[in-house]
Amino acid sequence: MSESPPGKPRYRIVRGMRMPLGFPAGGLESGLGYRPSPGDIFVASYPKCGTTWLQYIVWLLMRQRPLAANDSLAELFPHLEEVGAETVTALPEPRLIKTHLAFGLMPYTAEARYLVILRNPFDCAVSFFHHTTGFPRHYDFAGGSFAAFFECFIRGEVDFGGYFDHLLSWHEARTHPNVHVLTYEAMQADPRAAVTRIAAVLGEHAQAAVATPEGLEAVVRETSVEAMRRDQRRWSSERPAWATGFVRLGRVGDWQSLFTREQLRRLLAEFDRRLEGTAFAALWPDVLAAARDRAR
Ligand code: A3P
Repeated sequence: MSESPPGKPRYRIVRGMRMPLGFPAGGLESGLGYRPSPGDIFVASYPKCGTTWLQYIVWLLMRQRPLAANDSLAELFPHLEEVGAETVTALPEPRLIKTHLAFGLMPYTAEARYLVILRNPFDCAVSFFHHTTGFPRHYDFAGGSFAAFFECFIRGEVDFGGYFDHLLSWHEARTHPNVHVLTYEAMQADPRAAVTRIAAVLGEHAQAAVATPEGLEAVVRETSVEAMRRDQRRWSSERPAWATGFVRLGRVGDWQSLFTREQLRRLLAEFDRRLEGTAFAALWPDVLAAARDRAR
């Protein structure tokens, strides 16, 4: 079943969740049934929160081989809900697995590791808009407006569900010893510290790769936005020539390019309503202050 209100992105609905039209029909069902292995390393995120960036850092730390122009991260570090359980089970161990599932749906074992990357909702919405217009085969939304997309985003009527539902699900899980929460903004502010911390989560083999200043610099350089803007076929299927690259700006604060004051007010109100009293309400003080200022 798919849904196509006028002027809005289209999705395939599976188990009540919107999915990109181009994903194999059985991927989600199969992925939900995946039985994780103790060595598994999951990169978990809401869409457009820096998943690919974190995946590439994890890839380099674990496999210690930069991707060539004709490599595909989606094959080497696949998306569970796209490829399903069988493909993931066939990966070499330790398996590297991408997922956009909320914690409540996650195939979970206390022995696997879950690296979770979060991003402020304003930049996430803008990035998600560019993503959605630029994959016509997944969303049929080429030429769509930010106004229309924003209405879907704030209602959680986008692929993989609502931003705040996802965030709150991982809030619940944040104190599990095998759940490691990072933010896009902190990674931007200090990529060296972020890579060092990620290596510590991944263990001795990864730590050895960045034990010297040269080793650390090599990973930081290879995963910089400038380096990742090259050879973009490494990150995603092809996008039309007119669309933004999959690795686009890679900045904090691009929300200012598209949000109206009214949209800011509404998303701020939703942020306050959903996150009040939670530890995650304090994750983005600078962005929140700037957004509140602009919304006035
Ligand atoms: P923008 O669209 O705001 O530029 P995901 O991988 O979850 O789809 O997230 C995509 C977002 O991460 C995009 O944000 C993309 O540009 C950004 N990104 C990708 N690689 C990055 C990097 N090396 N450094 C900073 N941002 C990066």
